[in-house]
Amino acid sequence: MAKSTLSFVCQNCGAAYNRWQGKCESCGEWNTLAEEDTSGSVPVSIRSKRKGRTFALESLAGKSPDAPRLSSGMSELDRVTGGGFVRGSVLLVGGDPGIGKSTLLTQATSLLARAGHRVVYISGEEAVAQVRLRAERLGLSDAPVQLAAETSVEDIVSTLSEGAVPRLIVIDSIQTMWTDTVESAPGTVTQVRASAQALIRFAKKTGAAIILVGHVTKDGQIAGPRVVEHMVDAVMSFEGEGSQQFRILRAVKNRFGPTDEIGVFEMTGLGLREVTNPSELFLSERDLGTPGTAVFAGIEGTRPVLVELQALVAPTSLGTPRRAVVGWDPSRLSMVLAVLEAHCGVKLSGHDVYLNVAGGLRIHEPAADLAAAAALVSSLVNAQLPTDAVYFGEISLSGVVRPVAQTPARLKEAAKLGFQRAVLPESARGDAGGDAGLSLNAVNSLTTLVAEIAARGSRRGESSAQPEKNATPARFRRGEG
Ligand code: TYD
Ligand code: MG
Repeated sequence: MAKSTLSFVCQNCGAAYNRWQGKCESCGEWNTLAEEDTSGSVPVSIRSKRKGRTFALESLAGKSPDAPRLSSGMSELDRVTGGGFVRGSVLLVGGDPGIGKSTLLTQATSLLARAGHRVVYISGEEAVAQVRLRAERLGLSDAPVQLAAETSVEDIVSTLSEGAVPRLIVIDSIQTMWTDTVESAPGTVTQVRASAQALIRFAKKTGAAIILVGHVTKDGQIAGPRVVEHMVDAVMSFEGEGSQQFRILRAVKNRFGPTDEIGVFEMTGLGLREVTNPSELFLSERDLGTPGTAVFAGIEGTRPVLVELQALVAPTSLGTPRRAVVGWDPSRLSMVLAVLEAHCGVKLSGHDVYLNVAGGLRIHEPAADLAAAAALVSSLVNAQLPTDAVYFGEISLSGVVRPVAQTPARLKEAAKLGFQRAVLPESARGDAGGDAGLSLNAVNSLTTLVAEIAARGSRRGESSAQPEKNATPARFRRGEG
C-alpha cells in the first residue's frame, strides 16, 4: 500500500498545500481547503521499479480514419458535439442545478436506446424511481435504457464490463461517484479526479462513449475539479436564465469538433424541445416601438442568430452611476460607453446604464458593439430606432466601426425574418453582395450613427421635452423595483 500523504486540497481549483490556510492562493477562494490523501492509486514502490517499454514514433502525415460517431437523433445536440458522440470519448456536461441536464440526457439516451443501441444511465443523485418518473413524464418509459442508481466506480466498471460494450454511458453526476483507490470522502477533488480517471480509462479501453454530468459552482465553473475539464475530450455547458424557457448548450472544449456552436432548446412541460430557428424565438416577444432596443445580427458558430439588445439609460441618483449588464461582457460595455463619451460627445457619467440581451442568450462577439451603442443612444435621447433594422459591427477605441466576419450570412438571416435594412460597417458593404435584399446603411464611425439617432430624437422630440419622464419602459420599471 502506498505511504499515505495528507495534503490540504482546494475544493475549488485543486491546488494542494502542506498545511491548512484560510485562503487558497491559487484561486483566491476562502475556506475551500480540505484534508485529503493525495498519494494516488499507484504505489510508489511499483512505479519506480517498473522499467519503461519502447514504442514506435509516427509522423504527422498519414491517414487516420474519421472518428466513428454515434448520432444522438437530436440535431441540436449533434451540432454541438460536432456530429455525434465519438466512440471511446468522454464528455463533461456542466450546468446549474435544475437547468435540465438530466432531462436532456434522459431524452438523448432514450432516442439511442430506441434506435437499438445498448445505452446505460447511472444515476448517483436520484433513485431509480425518480428517474423512471421523469421518463414517464417525458413519454419515454418504453425506451430500453438500462438504468441503475449506483455510486461506486469499481462496481459500475465491473457491471459494464459484462455483456456487449455499451455505446453510451451517462454518469449523473461525477461529484457523487467514489472509488476505493483513494481514501478521501466522496465529492472531494481527489475522489472526483480518481473516479473520472477510472471511467475515462474504461471508455478508452472499451470504446464506449461516456457522458459525465458535472455540477457548477455559483460563479459558473464546473465545481471542484477544474482538473476534470483537462482530462475529458469535450466540455459542454448547459446555460439559461432560470425564469426563461430557453436553454443553450455550448461547447467549451471539444477535441473532435468546433467549440463555437450552440444548440438551442426550449424547456416545455414535456421535456426539452429543439429550436431549429433561434432567431424567431429570440425575437418572438419583441416590444416594438420602445426606445432603447436594437436588433443585433449575430453569428453563433456557423449559424446566424438575431437577438434584441435592450438598453436603459436613466439619470442616476447615486454618486457612482450603476452599470449593469446581462448576457454581454461588462468590460465591453464600459468600452462602448467610453468611446461614446470620448468621441461622440455623449455624456453618460450622470446616468445609470443597464443593458440586457433578450431571451437569456449570452453574446461573446465584439460585433455586438454597434447594436449596443445604438440601443444605448436610442434610450438616452428617447428616440425609437427603426423596427425593421438590424445592427452589427465592432467599434474600435478610436470610434471607427470595424468590419466583422460573415456579413452575407447575417444579412441573409435578417432578410429571411423580414427586416428591411441593415446598419453595418462601411468596409463590409463590399462583402454584402448586391442581392442582400436589404437596404444597407453603412457607417464608418460611431459619430455618424449617434448623429443619425439624435436627429430622429429631435425630429419627434419637440413635444417630449422631458425625456426622463418616459425614458423608462414599463418592463424595466417592473424588473428593477
Ligand atoms: P433536471 O433535468 O432535473 O435538471 P438538472 O439535472 O440539470 O438538475 O430538470 C429539472 C427542471 O426541469 C425542473 O425544475 C423541472 C423542469 N422540467 C420541465 O419543465 N419539464 C420536463 O419535462 C422535465 C422533465 C423537467
Ligand atoms: Mg440532474
